[in-house]
Amino acid sequence: MAFGIKKLTPHFVGEMTGVDMRKLDDATFAAVKRAWRENQILVFRGQHLEEEALVEFSQRFGALETHVRTEYLSTEHSEILYVSNIKKGGRAIGILSDHEVGWHYDQIYLTQPAVGSCLYAVKLPSAGGSTYFADMSRAYETLPAQMKNKIDGRKAVQSYDYFNQYNSVATSSEQKKKTPDVEHPIVRTHPMTGRKALYICPGMTTRIVGLSEDESRTILKTLFDWCVQPEFVYRHDWQYGDAVMWDNACTMHRRDPFDEKSERLMKRTTILPPAELSVPF
Ligand code: SIN
Repeated sequence: MAFGIKKLTPHFVGEMTGVDMRKLDDATFAAVKRAWRENQILVFRGQHLEEEALVEFSQRFGALETHVRTEYLSTEHSEILYVSNIKKGGRAIGILSDHEVGWHYDQIYLTQPAVGSCLYAVKLPSAGGSTYFADMSRAYETLPAQMKNKIDGRKAVQSYDYFNQYNSVATSSEQKKKTPDVEHPIVRTHPMTGRKALYICPGMTTRIVGLSEDESRTILKTLFDWCVQPEFVYRHDWQYGDAVMWDNACTMHRRDPFDEKSERLMKRTTILPPAELSVPF
């Protein structure tokens, strides 16, 4: 099939057709990269990715991050994080289990946060476990001017510790030391496109710096409600062989729960900003 792109919502998310992620020549790779920037989220169906191929594909976009939850990394390829409820020998092989996972940006809690993630479906439950993505560029662009004025130039606190509400096993003290709370601008300028996006999420953003607790809570609640309006959200119902690549500078995501008796295994890579963009904001 010829290479192409099908829009899955009017403003973001494109499905790439005719692409085998294991075999991208330079011209096709350049087109995929462009499509990713333009669509923020790319869906690839019917892929057959061994771990090595997932790593090789992801590395073409930048260096890969090794997740702080090292107990959930692939033993063969430490660049791959398992997202799963499967247990082996009584121990979970992956992060995030089978419960609902709230809206979050991957790695927003790092001083140099990720610019992308790629999630590949290996084992799926018969129902549930859909993943939702919110277009945080449009959410920012369509905000009333009064709200833009309130938040422009302000920072918010991002906390991995707070996100632990979604992890069945708490972080070790060593992992905790590696993930102190950080502050980032509420409005993030995309390191590659220059487009602005709301860079906050209910799962990890705890407060706005310099505001009273009440004011901060009120503004964050208004923003969180705004971002998840149906017109900004895409729901992905997974099929075997799907890989979804999202832009971590301008989309947040959440996941539905699924039956704990079903097994789900997803493999994720996370892409770091290019070295020349050492300050990504
Ligand atoms: C994630 O939040 O990275 C995983 C989402 C999912 O399990 O679908």
